[in-house]
Amino acid sequence: MIEVKDLVRQFKSGDRTIKPVNGVSFELERGAFASIVGKSGSGKSTLLSLLGALDKPTSGDVVVDGVSLASLPDAKLTAYRRRDIGFVFQQFNLVPNLSALENVMLPMEFAGLGRTARRTRAQALLERVQLDPEKHVRKANRLSGGEQQRVAIARALANEPKLILADEPTGNLDEQTGEHIIGLLSSLAEEHGTTVLVVTHDQGLARKTDRRFRLQRGTLNEEAAARS
Ligand SMILES: Nc1ncnc2c1ncn2[C@@H]1O[C@H](COP(=O)(O)OP(=O)(O)O)[C@@H](O)[C@H]1O
Ligand SMILES: [Mg+2]
Repeated sequence: MIEVKDLVRQFKSGDRTIKPVNGVSFELERGAFASIVGKSGSGKSTLLSLLGALDKPTSGDVVVDGVSLASLPDAKLTAYRRRDIGFVFQQFNLVPNLSALENVMLPMEFAGLGRTARRTRAQALLERVQLDPEKHVRKANRLSGGEQQRVAIARALANEPKLILADEPTGNLDEQTGEHIIGLLSSLAEEHGTTVLVVTHDQGLARKTDRRFRLQRGTLNEEAAARS
């Protein structure tokens, strides 16, 4: 599904050059539920940005279903980002004064869906992430953290992406709520064949994923890990 080939991203930091991503290669199959663990500052967010075409690598390539991102013009990269990728962030990043439903409807506007279809589909997605029905019309800033992250996952699913990239999705949640969110992401991979890649520094949560990678000194290594 996604094939990452010798990816490098360097930054200039004063007169130093740092390479948080320095030769990363791996592959994920369709429907994989995988995690990347690594210390703060190890390059996890940098790597996710490259996979989601929010940023461009210094060298190397990301190939998604046979299409090389390095070969795509910017307009095609934007389309890839909006259509094929669903992002979930630690800070939820919802529009605070829009309702849960409106937040989920937003990305569908780009896809050209009519208003009624958007509303119907957003409702179905909020049901899929198990947000209480009476909270569908509540403003995002009046929802709890766990509820906001459910809405963010529903929004990420709006355009039926191939790949969900979740950057510390449980970082702002208590342990039990975090486990629910990981369970939800796991079931998306299992039931809908969506590939899910979660970045976390929480080993306990990483152990719930089927494949676990560690990012260290710019390179990624898979750990031999059975799901607990
Ligand atoms: N746009 C940027 N310009 C310069 N340095 C950056 C930029 N983005 C990230 N970095 C640096 O790259 C390193 C990895 O950052 P990041 O990917 O955010 O780590 P993580 O998500 O694992 O905490 C850090 O040293 C950070 O300061
Ligand atoms: Mg980060």
